[in-house]
Amino acid sequence: MKVAAPSQASRRSAVAHFARLRTSKGQSNPFPIYANLRSLGPILPAPWGGHLVTGFDLCDHVLRSREWLEPDRQWRSRQGGGTRWDSPSATEMSKTLPCLNPPDHTRVRRSAGSFDRATIERLGRAVGRVTDLLLDSVAEQVQDGEADFVDLVCEQLPVATIGSWLELPTADLPRLRELTHDQVFTQELLPSASQLALSDAATAELRAYFTELVRERRRHPGDDPISRWIATWDTLEPDRDQADEAVYYLALFVLLAALETTSTMLATTVLLLLERPEWWSRLAARPDLVPGFVEESLRYDPPTQVISRVAHHDGVLGGMEVRKDDMVHLMIAAAHRDPERHPDPERFDPLRNPGHLAFSGGAHYCMGAPLARLETHTLLRHLTERLPRLALARRPSWAPRVAFRRLLNLDVVLA
Ligand code: HEM
Repeated sequence: MKVAAPSQASRRSAVAHFARLRTSKGQSNPFPIYANLRSLGPILPAPWGGHLVTGFDLCDHVLRSREWLEPDRQWRSRQGGGTRWDSPSATEMSKTLPCLNPPDHTRVRRSAGSFDRATIERLGRAVGRVTDLLLDSVAEQVQDGEADFVDLVCEQLPVATIGSWLELPTADLPRLRELTHDQVFTQELLPSASQLALSDAATAELRAYFTELVRERRRHPGDDPISRWIATWDTLEPDRDQADEAVYYLALFVLLAALETTSTMLATTVLLLLERPEWWSRLAARPDLVPGFVEESLRYDPPTQVISRVAHHDGVLGGMEVRKDDMVHLMIAAAHRDPERHPDPERFDPLRNPGHLAFSGGAHYCMGAPLARLETHTLLRHLTERLPRLALARRPSWAPRVAFRRLLNLDVVLA
């Protein structure tokens, strides 16, 4: 097989594209930048080392392959001191589910359980009630002018849902939401020192919160996931403190995993609907088209735009030489518009039934996908049925970052 050498020209070109991608302006429409990156080939050297993968089939292959691992604790320690990988927040993350490899990953993932049909049905009733209350506040505000849909709905529904599932006190939810916004920086592609400091502080506060919560649930167990995880871990781990620690990492990560991603999914899907007024009445008349609209939104503009893996050993990926421990960044949002995978990929087509990697693939496939879909389907059904058509007051703005997309506002008026 022919092995390509990293080209200086493509490295320089990737630097320029990334500089643009990391700004609010670049995030307001990153797709031409992704198209330029893709035109350099399905895999290219990353400016800071490792590789960027933009081809759909290659991304899919890496996610499903056992040859590619999560950057776990052992990998992080091999990167040496003084890097982003040994910051307190990164060290804490390294013990959570998505940073584990087998056999640890298999054991912890099994202990976490899954969203079965009965749980989704029960949560569905709570999601429906909360959605209606949130839409009431939008309906009220647009009577007098504008409403910020992100602030009133997209930021509220995911935290209310996770709060209801984990049975968290309602008064704690706004603070948990704020902390999650800060914590996520440690999971970003290229966090700055000040962003890492915010993330470290948020991680410490979240540790204190969830450690106490687990202690409280051990003292007073109920019929909730945290109490069930304690019971499960007591059968797996003879040391109670170790069992509580494992439950803490599960609770911490489901909160972190659920909030920003789902808020972004709700906001992006509603934005795509606002931009296509003909679909408002179509979805109101045919709620069965809602799931297709949501899946196409996940393809077209996924909340998690980059997923990273590291090489288990020396080898070749897409004709490019890779060394053990090299990191590859799977540019999911670019791969979703790979014309080799989706014909006419720039066209938003809710009827296309797309394959996408928005929830990852393989062993780390998102545990919360049924919940994220439940919330988005419920919101679109209730929104199109209940409210007369809304219109965008202005283009929204996006946070200046790359891996976790975030809409900062979505100002709407009555159409
Ligand atoms: C639109 C919303 C969401 C998106 C786009 C999303 C995306 C993802 C992605 C891309 C991964 C895999 C990361 C990797 O492969 O390294 C993942 C993992 C995970 N997600 Fe989600 N997620 C969403 C919502 C949720 C929710 C609501 C929950 C929890 C209730 C959740 C829980 C998890 C967990 C526990 C994992 C780790 C799975 C593992 O490593 O085995 N996610 N998610």
